Amino acid sequence: MSTKEKVVVTGFQPSGRLHIGNYLGMFKQAAAMQKEKGLKRYYFIADYHSLTQKYEPKQKSREIMEMAIDALALGIDPKKSTLFIQSHVPHHTNLAWIFNTLTPVGELERMVSYKEKVSQGQIANAGLLTYPILMAADILIYDADFVPVGEDQIQHLELTRAIARKFNQRFGKTFKEPQALLTKTPRVMSLNDPSNKMSKSIPSGCLFIFDSEAETTKKIMAAQTDSHKTIGFDPKNRPAVSNLVLIFAAFRGVSEKEIVKEFKNVGYKEFKAALAKEINSSLKPLRTRKKELMKEKSKITKLLEQNAKKMDRVASKKIEAVKSKVGLI
Ligand code: ADP
Ligand code: TRP
Repeated sequence: MSTKEKVVVTGFQPSGRLHIGNYLGMFKQAAAMQKEKGLKRYYFIADYHSLTQKYEPKQKSREIMEMAIDALALGIDPKKSTLFIQSHVPHHTNLAWIFNTLTPVGELERMVSYKEKVSQGQIANAGLLTYPILMAADILIYDADFVPVGEDQIQHLELTRAIARKFNQRFGKTFKEPQALLTKTPRVMSLNDPSNKMSKSIPSGCLFIFDSEAETTKKIMAAQTDSHKTIGFDPKNRPAVSNLVLIFAAFRGVSEKEIVKEFKNVGYKEFKAALAKEINSSLKPLRTRKKELMKEKSKITKLLEQNAKKMDRVASKKIEAVKSKVGLI
């Protein structure tokens, strides 16, 4: 486990379309980590996780492939990162089983994301409950140091660290405690309800990355604001406008202050038009890249197969060590 290079791991579910919350909260960071030296980057499509929610098998297959394409379009570079599919590396689930036996059910029932999903009407299947255990295995099997995620995943990361500690206490030092990496926008809020995070489960308030420019503009122009007359940044008292300012600042790569200063004398309509333009121009290269990648499906399939083999070798070593620690022969 004592590799000199630090390890970055993250996963994303192939369910629904990617939105700017995913991009600003996670993908941008995962891509930015590629500029740093001395890191191993393992990024995967969490297909097993995505089976915990309602799905159609044929559509699921399409979504998995499309998520690989999207990740590449969003800047995951196969020369710098290993992109793979979770279910292609069965040791994730092997390790999850062992973690299952160490995790009290009560800890899982406390998870906000689980409770939210159940309150939204999803069937509380056992997979939905044990979801964070598989996530812990995804991370700990690679001795991850850093995990780029949005704020909603922090609780899962804490559980991951708790599982690592518990295992280490019981069986001797085996796992590292990973650290979450948040961006400056770890919780992008919904465009039509700033009390909720932007999420594909509420599509109307969701700005999808691969929507057309016209659709993007339309959604921004319809985004909720408030009854004030000027732009401001005050997330507590003016959450809707502050969310738009944050999104603007994140896309432009400047501070919220600078955005407020630049637009302080204009109305919401003009501000929103400028925001839509900024988003569309930032996303244009990604949208173009996706169209190109759609023609390279067989190449991408090969890449995923090769990477699965590589990751299987990495994961095998760890699982062998773990099995021996717990007394399996
Ligand atoms: P969703 O919540 O829309 O279903 P996922 O669960 O697939 O999205 O999330 C993929 C990654 O994007 C995770 O790291 C998650 O924390 C991050 N993420 C999701 N929604 C947001 C958001 N609104 N703001 C910031 N990050 C987000
Ligand atoms: N739970 C994450 C999400 O919904 C996806 C995920 C699965 C993940 N395994 C992971 C993220 C491991 C980081 C590390 O977005």
